[in-house]
Amino acid sequence: MRATFCGARRVLSMANMTDLSVQLGPLSLRNPILSASGTYGHGLEMCHFTPPARIGGLVSKTVTPNPRHGNAAPRIAETEAGLLNSLGLENKGVEHYLAHTLPDMAGVDTVVFTNIGGESVDEFIAMARRLGERDEIDAFEVNLSCPNVQGGRLPFGTDPANAARVIEGIKAATTKPVFAKLSPNVSRIADMALAVEAAGADGITAVNTLLGMAVDWRTRKPGLATVQGGYSGPGVKPVALRCAWECARSVSIPVIGCGGISSAEDVLEFLVAGCTAVQLGTACFADPALPGRMVDELTRLLDDAGVARVRDLIGTVQDGTSRTCASNASDAKAQTDAEVVGRP
Ligand code: FUM
Repeated sequence: MRATFCGARRVLSMANMTDLSVQLGPLSLRNPILSASGTYGHGLEMCHFTPPARIGGLVSKTVTPNPRHGNAAPRIAETEAGLLNSLGLENKGVEHYLAHTLPDMAGVDTVVFTNIGGESVDEFIAMARRLGERDEIDAFEVNLSCPNVQGGRLPFGTDPANAARVIEGIKAATTKPVFAKLSPNVSRIADMALAVEAAGADGITAVNTLLGMAVDWRTRKPGLATVQGGYSGPGVKPVALRCAWECARSVSIPVIGCGGISSAEDVLEFLVAGCTAVQLGTACFADPALPGRMVDELTRLLDDAGVARVRDLIGTVQDGTSRTCASNASDAKAQTDAEVVGRP
């Protein structure tokens, strides 16, 4: 049995009034609020702001096979409506994570996702094998979409066949649920969603950061040493919402929405658009207590609206389309391909 951590215990209080629980594929979450990878440490660093037992789950920072120092500084730049980052997957590597981070996670009373990264299909598979036996991990989130490594080429984030190879390999290497974190930096995210679903993914996280750039015209210098980086925060919310909606209507596996979410209203928008859960990222930098407070705020909003179960809102957007969308997406692709080659 998992011990309590940080004095955390199941906090029912307001949550008694409204049922916030959701079923995320094989995972039962007490509520739809998760932390986003790379914005909340490995999870426990923030436990004095938000006890893990308050939220639906914690997602670790990306863990890679070897330690990574990350990219050169500056690697964070603030913009008018968000943040640019180019950390370059800085982390201490999988062996450190296994020896020093995971043992602490054994006491956490919430669902634990470990986000894994790699530079080749084999590296991703090796990560799943190395971590797959550990009971502290409930599920993997696979980072197919970091824009700040491999020269920003996103080899697994923009090519459906590459993404499918990674997911297929990981599914063969572990029995844990596997969620694919997709990139918004593609023209048709539904194609990526369909590819990872066909490869066996248990769910999708939509989306990682948008490629962006900042420049100081006075110094002529870019805001980031790598010039371009990943853009997150309130400015990306409409893009992220559209991507999550497009994924949700295209596949049958659950979608976790991510991108610019900073209020309980935002959470409910993503759920109505088809997401089963959401991740809070950039907003937590300024306010690491936000996830816990947001749970209470969600309850208040739902009580006011007379909604007894949050899950009843999932996918209820009146967008004039049906949610059968795998075939719609394939039709649309066929049409697009035909147009490109000049066929009727
Ligand atoms: O640069 C970074 O570490 C960012 C990672 C990501 O966006 O996945």
